[in-house]
Amino acid sequence: MSNEKRSDVLRVGLLGFGTVGSAFAEVLAAHGDAGVRITRVFNRGVERKRGHALAKFVPADAVWTERVEDVLEAADVDAVVELMGGLDPAENWLRAALSAGKHVVTANKQLIAYRGAELFALAESKGVHLLYGAAVAGGVPVIPGIAQGLSGDVITRISGIVNGTCNFILSSMESGAAYGEVLKQAQAAGYAEADPSADVDGFDARAKLCVLARLALHAEIDPEQVPAQTIATISAMDFAYAKELGCTVRQVARVELAARAELMDGVVSASVGPMLVPKTSPIAWSHGTQNMVVTSGRFGGDVVFSGHGAGGHPTAVAVMSDVRAIAEGSVQVRLPAKKMAVVGDVVAPHYLRFVVADRPGIVAAIAGALAKVGANIDSILQHRGFGGDRLPFVVTTEPSLSSKLEEAMAEMAAFDFMLEPPLCLQILVVDDRDTD
Ligand code: HSE
Repeated sequence: MSNEKRSDVLRVGLLGFGTVGSAFAEVLAAHGDAGVRITRVFNRGVERKRGHALAKFVPADAVWTERVEDVLEAADVDAVVELMGGLDPAENWLRAALSAGKHVVTANKQLIAYRGAELFALAESKGVHLLYGAAVAGGVPVIPGIAQGLSGDVITRISGIVNGTCNFILSSMESGAAYGEVLKQAQAAGYAEADPSADVDGFDARAKLCVLARLALHAEIDPEQVPAQTIATISAMDFAYAKELGCTVRQVARVELAARAELMDGVVSASVGPMLVPKTSPIAWSHGTQNMVVTSGRFGGDVVFSGHGAGGHPTAVAVMSDVRAIAEGSVQVRLPAKKMAVVGDVVAPHYLRFVVADRPGIVAAIAGALAKVGANIDSILQHRGFGGDRLPFVVTTEPSLSSKLEEAMAEMAAFDFMLEPPLCLQILVVDDRDTD
């Protein structure tokens, strides 16, 4: 803790007055006398920001600045709230804030996923808090829920939906909307990342997954090692076939400790990507920007967290809760983590979708490629009514090793009748695992 005498009110320096920063000002104002006050706001183009509709919620005597040092070095800032995102320059700013003995609250999942270990060590050495409840699942208290409420269990698996934009896109497509249109809506509503690839290609979700893995599984994993599959290849026909299989499609992030820890100590299995989700799974019930995280504990069983995972107000709620925790002097549970490697491979049933120029022998060729890698076909689905010049059909497999299927998919992609790269999705298995 800094030696500087703190005032009774926690004085907040806000980095970023965008969607979340401005919503935070409004949420804070709604709390009246919460013992928290914004004293400084840093943003580029301050004059324009001061004209923002929500700027009225920032106290009139707060200093607005375009120089970040005016916040990081200010004697009247006890806690820096960082809502800008990205690794650079946010990392250096937060290092400077922590080094100066200031608490930090951040919504920056990339920073916590990639640099968390060093930043937590720095915060601890300075005796200050580094809280990041808004980094995963926006307004859903997954992080404090795991850190406080579930620290008594031994969590072995986390799965769920942690990207609101993808959920918004896929659940809208399930109701018939077109991919491009809903992506634009998500961007206009402020859910999406600045670069839509971060959402749709799974990079946002895998950073969040790594944050959860550290907290829940005590596994420090490198986000770059987590295989991420895009949702951009999912189309209306996949929802039609998924429905026939009693499923829908969602972007699922999952991480679990290796089943046989005595063989695979120090390894987790993890991946992010679109999956076929049975309608009987709670994960299939999430719509719009809703996030849903299911933790599986050895003693307490499954716990489901759900709510709005993106957007200014839900995210600002998580930021506000962290700021309040600091203002009240809450004590954090320490959850040390160790470095672990990631394997992307899983044994699971899979959904394979092909779009072909029809001719005899196609099913035989596909079956041959699957037989070569030892994958057993469970079903073949082909809707009537599509012209033979562009025929979509689906094969589902019995539980198979994903890397083996990828091998077969690579062979099949080269077949002359294949009109687009074939799609391979894992089918989520709902297991009603009982607790011990
Ligand atoms: N782009 C993110 C999402 C924002 O859609 O979930 C919240 O992290």
